[in-house]
Amino acid sequence: MGSSSIPHSDLAKGMQAISWCLRHPRHTLRSMSRGLAQIYRQSVDADSQLPLASLHEIAKPDHSVSLANFEGRDGNVSLYELLVISSLVRCRQPKTLLEIGTFDGNTSLQMAVNSPEDARIFTLDLPPDVDAASAELDPMDRAYIEDQGKQQKRRYEDSSQAHKVQQLIGDSATFDFQSQFASRPVDLAFIDGSHSYEYVRNDTEKVLELLAPDGVVLWHDYKPAWPGVIRYLEERRSDLPLRRIRGTSLVFLDGALR
Ligand SMILES: C[S@@+](CC[C@H](N)C(=O)[O-])C[C@H]1O[C@@H](n2cnc3c(N)ncnc32)[C@H](O)[C@@H]1O
Repeated sequence: MGSSSIPHSDLAKGMQAISWCLRHPRHTLRSMSRGLAQIYRQSVDADSQLPLASLHEIAKPDHSVSLANFEGRDGNVSLYELLVISSLVRCRQPKTLLEIGTFDGNTSLQMAVNSPEDARIFTLDLPPDVDAASAELDPMDRAYIEDQGKQQKRRYEDSSQAHKVQQLIGDSATFDFQSQFASRPVDLAFIDGSHSYEYVRNDTEKVLELLAPDGVVLWHDYKPAWPGVIRYLEERRSDLPLRRIRGTSLVFLDGALR
């Protein structure tokens, strides 16, 4: 067996790279986490049981979008997901929008910023009493339900778009959606409340009853960390033309294709 050795120059370059990484630990960690996030996204895209669609296919993003006070925190959608949602809003010009799961109001704010002046964004969240959810939760939902910061001031409250947003308080399992939306079919719904199978099923069934004939639905968190979302949406793929939006954990339904 022949022996192999690393050429001197390569060894020196390797040592230089290691020493640079040790001197710049924050930059190194940031690059590594970006790389890992990209590998993760690609592997999730590859594993998807739902057909993939690019943003171009669903939103024709040839118009500009605006974002306001958008810096994310744990619990928000990613920046790219915010751009996808905002593009869809710009493209479809929905008049009635429904979000299940307000959290700190980041996505509600961007939907308000990008929707027509006469649009209304209704966004539902649980009351501060943590035990208010009546159906089974995913254990990981608790962190976002109990998050102390999210209700201090929702992001849209101080914005010039605040008049478009109406906060609804209640549990999506028991909330009276029919009365609230009796004369307002929903043009765009965003489902991002509790992520258990039971809640995703409940929220989806309720939203589909309210949807305008050409309305659209987005679900967040179709990814392995939330098995209830994956299980429910994959069950519905035989009767709903669901598409996963490439590079995101968003699933999209064009109501006109139902
Ligand atoms: C992941 S956060 C939503 C993030 C937000 N949509 C965004 O884009 O920034 C989930 C939110 O759903 C709310 N939630 C959980 N279960 C709910 C339920 N049964 N009814 C209404 N809201 C619920 C939680 O209180 C939490 O604020």
